[in-house]
Amino acid sequence: MGRVVFVSAGPGAADLITLRGARRLAEAQVVLFDALTDPALREFAPQALWVDVGKRGFCHSTGQATIDALLVRHARQHEVVVRLKGGDASVFGRLEEELQALAAAGIACEVVPGVTAAIAAAAHTQRPLTRRGTAGRGGRSVSLTTAMTRQGQLQAGRHADTEVFYMAGRQLGALGRALLRVGWPQDTPVCVVSRAGWPDALASEHTLAGLAGAALLHAGRPTVVTVGTGAAPVAAAPRTPSSAQALPVAAAGRAPAAA
Ligand SMILES: C[S@@+](CC[C@H](N)C(=O)[O-])C[C@H]1O[C@@H](n2cnc3c(N)ncnc32)[C@H](O)[C@@H]1O
Repeated sequence: MGRVVFVSAGPGAADLITLRGARRLAEAQVVLFDALTDPALREFAPQALWVDVGKRGFCHSTGQATIDALLVRHARQHEVVVRLKGGDASVFGRLEEELQALAAAGIACEVVPGVTAAIAAAAHTQRPLTRRGTAGRGGRSVSLTTAMTRQGQLQAGRHADTEVFYMAGRQLGALGRALLRVGWPQDTPVCVVSRAGWPDALASEHTLAGLAGAALLHAGRPTVVTVGTGAAPVAAAPRTPSSAQALPVAAAGRAPAAA
């Protein structure tokens, strides 16, 4: 009986994986990987059999029960099986279901943490998710939220000073309206980042009322929406030429001049 290591790949380019994650890949005989992981990660485990169990949003190319069964089967045949997940495995990654399936089969597991999309987006835009007191706005709490229910309906709330929404890229206009309805002020800063952590990451800033204007720019790309204090620019931060290049925040609906 082998063990399963859940390795968080990070949300973008292969170098966002942790050292520990890369070491576990090098030990693996089998790697079951998700759609949003960088193919360049294969270089860390050329010895392994790579199995695509990719799924995106609510369209699953491989059902969860099939993935659970594959994990159990491979762990019974191999010493180290890596389950490679995009971003951090613990954030909207179906980790609970897979841990349960492996526990039921008596298979040992390890979870290697990683960079989640919200954190990569904050790094890309140089907009810290927590603040010590910016312009009278609180910055003490952050919530990672999916606005989508299991039934595919959109539900929004107001739980923290900064809320980062996952899996809402196709419903940006509806998300903006829902947030206004639950009491977020019209002038709340909103930042939308797609493909955070990749060389072609894009960011744009909006008001809640104008959030629908981000749809075209980020269409078809994995996207997070940061709302509240953490979406505001750091007003006094000096911009070196290199940091300015690393901050392609586009005006609403327009692609940045230089990435
Ligand atoms: C199933 S969730 C997986 C989240 C992942 N476990 C994480 O920690 O980032 C997929 C959603 O994460 C977000 N996402 C994943 N990668 C992203 C990226 N590079 N840039 C922006 N958003 C991303 C999108 O909202 C996407 O719909």
